Amino acid sequence: MLDKKIILAITGSIAAYKSAILARMLVKEGAEVQILMTPAATSFISPLTLSTLSKRPVFSSVSAEDAWNNHVEMGLWADAMIIAPATANTLAKLSAGICDNIVASVYLSARCPVFIAPAMDLDMWKHPATVANVEKLKSFGNHFLPVGYGQLASGLIGEGRMAEPEEIVASLYRHFQGAQDFSGKKVLITAGPTYEPLDPVRFIGNRSSGKMGIAIAEGFAERGASVKLVLGPSKLSAKHARIETTKVQTASEMHSAALKYFPGSDIAVLAAAVADYRPREVADQKIKKSEGQMTIELEKTPDIAAALGKIKQPGQFIVGFALETNNELDNARQKLERKNFDFIVLNSLRDTGAGFNFDTNKITILHKGNKRKDFELKTKAEVAQDILNEIAAFFK
Ligand code: C5P
Repeated sequence: MLDKKIILAITGSIAAYKSAILARMLVKEGAEVQILMTPAATSFISPLTLSTLSKRPVFSSVSAEDAWNNHVEMGLWADAMIIAPATANTLAKLSAGICDNIVASVYLSARCPVFIAPAMDLDMWKHPATVANVEKLKSFGNHFLPVGYGQLASGLIGEGRMAEPEEIVASLYRHFQGAQDFSGKKVLITAGPTYEPLDPVRFIGNRSSGKMGIAIAEGFAERGASVKLVLGPSKLSAKHARIETTKVQTASEMHSAALKYFPGSDIAVLAAAVADYRPREVADQKIKKSEGQMTIELEKTPDIAAALGKIKQPGQFIVGFALETNNELDNARQKLERKNFDFIVLNSLRDTGAGFNFDTNKITILHKGNKRKDFELKTKAEVAQDILNEIAAFFK
């Protein structure tokens, strides 16, 4: 039950269609929803659809022909304001304090927490102007919902998709009901793939996107922890102010960073897909094509998880991952023991929708002593919450 008064502000992006679903979900959860639209948003979705779903009139200007829509009153009425989708234009206006439409005017008057779900094309999202606006808005205390990676309306593929309505609702729940149960805890997370160079041009890598590890980092930060994220080469990044990211390329670099942060950590979650082998020699120059076959000699990379498991002190907690394609449970159980994990999260590439690059995952958590918990297929943000809840149970 989310019995709160919520302003849902919609701006002019193609993702506005998702806001209709969001409005319906919020009403279903018991919220009173007041929808505001910028004039541009009304070209993307009809106010009639939204007023029907929200059961209230929708406002798209401060002064209508026969009335003045009191933005100050609305700003004080709300328990939370959600701006979804938030365009680059709106982010720029909000960060500069420009209020030439009802969304920006209510934003400036609002005393409640504000949740912003940006949506735009990948180049607009990466532009230094947008990056600076987001940073500024974060420094004002606004909550940002991470953008997703995938196909964009432009046809390009990258970061910039609006967070899914389910994730926005989950964030609100966490805000209003969610405990800051990891407050004061220091957490180390490894995520993403590693790239092991062969020469200045080529590398051996894997298909990990880093999505699961980043979702876990965001989950911890939202629940109060300070997070050190050691991230291999991923297109994605973590946005929360309590996450400090160290970017690495190779297993060896990830190993050094993890060893540096682990002694000061209460919890380590090792979600990275670390290469097990690397080329024994790295050529200074690009390796030239020659007749016949070529053999690359590989040597083992450091096992980061095993190294941390060895130096683990009482009170420290390590969660490992196992991505398997066959004989899943046995393999995961062996890793749990061998690497001295407190529990292990198993996902199988045999489950549809689970694993690399998907937005969803299906996991099994294996504890010591054969205790096992199976979970449904869920979004990675929800899976992250399940993993965090499992860890929280140990710290209670
Ligand atoms: O042995 P395997 O690679 O399947 O083990 C998976 C677990 O060990 C994951 O938690 C992964 O992050 C971690 N790992 C590691 N360093 C390695 C290999 C795996 O930390 N070199």
